[in-house]
Amino acid sequence: MEAVSWLLGFLGRYPEFMVSLACLLVLSYRLKRRHGLPTNWPVIGALPAISVNAGRVHEWITEFLSAAGLSYVIKGPWGSPVDAIVTADPANVAHVFTTNFGNYPKGEEFAALFDVLGEGIFNADGESWAFQRRKTHALLSDARFRASVAASTACKLREGLVPLLDSLAASGAVVDLQDVFVRLTFDLTAMFVFGLDPGCLAADFPSIPFATAMDAVEEVLFYRHISPVPWLRLQSFLKIGHSKKMSKARQVLDASIAEFISLRRERSADTTGDADADLLTSYLACQDEVGKEGAEFDRFLRDTTLNIMVAGRDTTSSALTWFFWLLTKQPDVEARILAELRDHPPSSGAGHHTAAELKRLVYLHAALSESLRLYPPVPFEHKAAARPDTLPSGARVGPSRRVIVSFYSMGRMEAVWGKDCLEFRPERWLTPAGRLRHEPSYKFVAFNVGPRTCLGKHLAFAQMKAVVAAVLPRFRVEVDAGAVVRPKLSIILHMKDGLKVRVHKRGEA
Ligand code: HEM
Repeated sequence: MEAVSWLLGFLGRYPEFMVSLACLLVLSYRLKRRHGLPTNWPVIGALPAISVNAGRVHEWITEFLSAAGLSYVIKGPWGSPVDAIVTADPANVAHVFTTNFGNYPKGEEFAALFDVLGEGIFNADGESWAFQRRKTHALLSDARFRASVAASTACKLREGLVPLLDSLAASGAVVDLQDVFVRLTFDLTAMFVFGLDPGCLAADFPSIPFATAMDAVEEVLFYRHISPVPWLRLQSFLKIGHSKKMSKARQVLDASIAEFISLRRERSADTTGDADADLLTSYLACQDEVGKEGAEFDRFLRDTTLNIMVAGRDTTSSALTWFFWLLTKQPDVEARILAELRDHPPSSGAGHHTAAELKRLVYLHAALSESLRLYPPVPFEHKAAARPDTLPSGARVGPSRRVIVSFYSMGRMEAVWGKDCLEFRPERWLTPAGRLRHEPSYKFVAFNVGPRTCLGKHLAFAQMKAVVAAVLPRFRVEVDAGAVVRPKLSIILHMKDGLKVRVHKRGEA
């Protein structure tokens, strides 16, 4: 109180100081605005610019990073967790994610922010992370597992997605294609995680509490990134707002996963012969290696399965939604994909491509990569340095200043991808000989970079290709006239209002 009255007295005695300060602030604001750079004001930080651009955060970050030469410091208001060097500079990315990986662990703060994920792979560091990564990698590259995923995906597409789109085409109804893809990938992911199909993609669009709770968790996680810490603490103390939403969602998640685990245990006890090829079964079989028992082992199973559900459902559904939308805007790309699918029809009598046949769809792979470059499902990553560090761009990072890498902006930097960086041009991924062009992960960041690179990349490509091969030759998608397409503010790049479309059978007027 004393300090405040002293300050007011000081300002009253020296009005010329106040006038100079005001001039300085206005001048700095105008100068930075002219250069497209947001101002970090004392106390309120970049709050004015953040508020003005709240509805278009990704585009705004892209604009100021482009103007600033790939990196810029942004401060939130006092008390907010935002004090970061925001960057889209491949040199910084390679430094943080690969060369100095050891100095940028996920850390306790990250684990507290994402507490709902428990000790699963996304939160883990050190030995626990290395163990989970080894086990998950071993399973995902197992030939029997891959064959089983390919077969169950084909079955779900044949018996679930295609009949659903058939009926939508017949009725002419407007449908949210994003919702359809979230339901599809929820079922597909649950099938390889729990070995069970929850039936979220049924014709009556059922409400599945597990899926709804995942949506709620994602929303709260995003708000935790931007809300002032004291406000979050108060909500948690009073058990209101986002804190209440999170604890309700956690209860649903915990109960649903516990049910899946007990169903799986019952089924495993009944099964003789070959064990099922799903993640839960493989973990149930290696309890000794995990070294946990009773409730502790169940908690480990809960954390592990939830992390992979989160990894698989939202990323792949977001990628598919943006991809189908881009195709509606670029019929020439759609035509080339259809031509490739005609030239490489599935050989099996079942009517679906095998994993080896999907691999040969090179143009489709290029088009999916191009879509992921412009619309990466994980739009940003943040990292904190364990020890103070200097990035290749010259910026200092330390205990209070973190690094935010905008994956969304990285795909849109002229300095990284050239003058046509904003165009959807799958050809950039092809060599003159028609082969796939490799781009280093510190430039094409959609699947993360370095030792924590996404473990599901090949699985995701195989599933996305299978979906496109099942849908595109049969159906044409038309975006509804009133649809507004814009990214949602979330840790996943969903579309804010979904993707409202009509589906037409190909060949019909
Ligand atoms: C288009 C689809 C996908 C995209 C764009 C994507 C992207 C990413 C990104 C950016 C990360 C780093 C996250 C972080 O560390 O904070 C990541 C990690 C991971 N992803 Fe994916 N992912 C996709 C699909 C999948 C699928 C289908 C799986 C299923 C198994 C999966 C499994 C994982 C795992 C286990 C990690 C953690 C790796 C680690 O920390 O060592 N992903 N993914």
